[in-house]
Amino acid sequence: MPDDFVAVAQVDDLPEGRGKEVRVGETLIALFRVGDRVYAIDAICPHRGGPLAEGPLEGTVVTCPWHAWQFDVATGQNLRNPASRVTCHEVRIEGNTVYVKVSS
Ligand code: FES
Repeated sequence: MPDDFVAVAQVDDLPEGRGKEVRVGETLIALFRVGDRVYAIDAICPHRGGPLAEGPLEGTVVTCPWHAWQFDVATGQNLRNPASRVTCHEVRIEGNTVYVKVSS
């Protein structure tokens, strides 16, 4: 695994239907497991700072628990507002370990 990937979680520890928040350096990241894939986005909602990892996940769509903005965790795109998105981070899985490379 290249140096810029950091081990952040075990696949088995990721719940279905919601996220898990992890910290890499100064960056809070929300991990989401969708089937056998894992996605990583910024954990802080761009609206008012809600915790996206605590929102319900349906398919690849997470709903912010504070005011229900919705984001596709695979793309970071806000479903209703094309101008709003969250940063996506690259994920790799080796064995049961999830690695994330933080995007700047
Ligand atoms: S803080 Fe996320 S929708 Fe308002």
